[in-house]
Amino acid sequence: MKALNKKPLFNESGDTDISKKRLINGNTTNLNDFNNMKYTWASEWYRQAMNNFWIPEEINMAQDLKDYRVLTEEERTAYDKILSFLIFLDSVQMENLGNVNNYITASEVNLCLTIQAFQEAIHSQSYSYMLDTICPPNKRNEILYQWKDDPILLSRNKFIGDLYNEFLDNPVPENLLKTLMANYILEGIYFYSGFMFFYNLERNSKMPGSVQQIRYINRDENTHLWLFRNIIRELKKEEPHLFTDESVEELRNMIKTGVENEIAWGHYVIGNKFRDLIKMFSVNILST
Ligand SMILES: [Fe+2]
Ligand SMILES: [Fe+2]
Repeated sequence: MKALNKKPLFNESGDTDISKKRLINGNTTNLNDFNNMKYTWASEWYRQAMNNFWIPEEINMAQDLKDYRVLTEEERTAYDKILSFLIFLDSVQMENLGNVNNYITASEVNLCLTIQAFQEAIHSQSYSYMLDTICPPNKRNEILYQWKDDPILLSRNKFIGDLYNEFLDNPVPENLLKTLMANYILEGIYFYSGFMFFYNLERNSKMPGSVQQIRYINRDENTHLWLFRNIIRELKKEEPHLFTDESVEELRNMIKTGVENEIAWGHYVIGNKFRDLIKMFSVNILST
């Protein structure tokens, strides 16, 4: 397989002509020039992401503290498991973005990935804040690590985690492409039944602080999806040889597995327990 060069750091002989910029295997200086970008969508993305800045602790969780105690058993179990899942996703996502960034040689895209990683850190902070507010310390720890012991949670986290590890261990362009798609699946498919569960709590006037946190996280995740869609599209223009019939079929199958995982997860964590959510869930996910 053709090599993928790790981005140089201090590189005085890097290209200053932006037309020579490439997403991978370019000769970057790492200079951040906000006024002179090859990938102009990166500027728009960056500004949108900065406008979306928020601080979890500014959201009042007092009502959630009361509500959590009176959630039904099913609601509380689903709340815990969904949080455990989301905490893991955002944590591993933050780490993987740094690894992807080591191989992207377009400084404006590096900027965007850095801001995205920062936002994933805020999401982790948000989940911690939610747990710290509503749970006693022993319960908090149990929820944080449920993904390690719950076989269904673990198996779906493994699907994404293994793909990220594969790229970490063997950074070739083909594995980069799979990692980009795994990222896309995480942002575009894996979050949504979890988010819907929270929006359904809101419809029932429960856990308003948690829902506000999720609403802000959801807004960020939408932009992450937009960023990775653009990166994959640019890569297709610059490195069309990576998109063979075989690799495109593999990417399609990854999306299919991601959707199947999401459906199985939805059945497991939500199932038939929440009558008004079933309709929402079936319209949005099961029909895909
Ligand atoms: Fe996130
Ligand atoms: Fe994200």
